[in-house]
Parts: sequence; C-alpha cells; structure tokens
Amino acid sequence: MTTSLSLQDQRKINAARHALSFVDAGQVVGIGSGSTVARFIELLGAAPAKPPAVVVASAQSEAIALKAGLKIVPLNDVRRIDCYFDGADEIDPSLAMIKGGGAALTREKIIASASKRFICMVDGSKWVSTLGAFPLPVEVVPFAEAYVCDRIAALGGAAKRRGELITDNGNIIIDVVGLNFSDCDGLEATLNNIAGVVCNGLFAARRADVCIIAGDQIETRTAA
Ligand code: 5RP
Repeated sequence: MTTSLSLQDQRKINAARHALSFVDAGQVVGIGSGSTVARFIELLGAAPAKPPAVVVASAQSEAIALKAGLKIVPLNDVRRIDCYFDGADEIDPSLAMIKGGGAALTREKIIASASKRFICMVDGSKWVSTLGAFPLPVEVVPFAEAYVCDRIAALGGAAKRRGELITDNGNIIIDVVGLNFSDCDGLEATLNNIAGVVCNGLFAARRADVCIIAGDQIETRTAA
C-alpha cells in the first residue's frame, strides 16, 4: 500500500534530510520529539556514519530511535552534548521558539540547554515574524493546576488543560493564549517563577543557533 504525503510532511522530511549535514562524525547527538524529529531519527539510523549514541527527549523518540538501530544513552551519562536537533511549533527571526505541541518540552529544554549547538528543523509554516499564535504549552505539577492558571490569568493569559494527557514526567500540560510576547526572555522567566510550573514551551534563554526552513526551497537562518 502506498501513502501519499502532504506537502507539509514532505517539507518536514526535506528539513530533516538537510539537518543530517550538521551531524559531525563521532559525536553524541541530542534529539527532540515530534513528527519532523521522527523523520530525522529514521534518516539518521540509515545514514552511513551513525552517531555513537543519542540522547532523546521523549518515550516516542526513544521507540523510533531503537527501531532505527541507534544506541540511546541517558543525559546523566554524557552530561554535555555537541549538537541538538529538534522541531518547533513556531520560530521567529531571533530564533526564539514555541515548543511543546508534542508535550515533550521539559526534556527538550533540558537537552537543548545541555547542548553546545541547537539545530531547529521546520517546514515553512512554522516560521513567523512574532511568536504567540500557537498556544503556549506549560508543563504543570497536577497539584498546582488551579493556582498556576490563576497566576497566568493575572498575566493576561487564558489556560486550558490538554485533556487527560500526562507527560513523560507525570505532569499535566496547560495551553495558554493571550500572553504578551514582546519580551520573550522576560516572559519565559516570569512563567518559570510560578510555583508549580515545571517548564514552559517558550525557548528564548536557549534559542536555536541555526534554523533549517523547508519551503519550496531549503533556507538556513542564523539569529537576526
Ligand atoms: C514537541 C515539540 C515539537 O518539536 C513541535 O511540536 C513540532 O512538532 P512537529 O515536528 O510534529 O510539527 O516541541 O514537544
């Protein structure tokens, strides 16, 4: 049976394929989560020179990496990573991002922070002039849900729990609309400072270093 890919899916594959050129031989690779990353993992597994090991951000990526024949190691064993590859829900010209559509934001942010270089791979629909149209995912300790939602409301945001979803870390996700993204670094820190917030999906303190954008052609951007 053949399945036809949407244009967006084809572009995700194109971005992932281009990202392979950023993998340096012999280096442990950090890997995020999501459908673009899934394609990247499959391509990496089929590459002539596989990395010696990978650190993955989600149970979903772990399963795909195992199937692709990649060796997975815990971040605690390697401590620092040379290069991290991940997708995004939105990315702006400063290479700040909204991530967490796949609920893996906390481990993604940890690995990104532990990595010397962050390569973001997106189809062209994710490239935006200003962040904020995509609801901002926030991982929250379940006990603190109502308190965190009230604090976010005081910042002008409206939070909605993402159904019955429980993250790989045993927490819930709330998706937030209505926040002001004019100071991304400040907003990321403010949200992190609410007791009960584990992590938020705004990646400003640790922006990407390179963004591969797959549209009609491939474009590679560094921060404006
Ligand atoms: C998961 C993420 C993903 O990178 C983001 O949701 C993009 O996913 P996709 O590649 O499926 O469009 O942040 O938590």
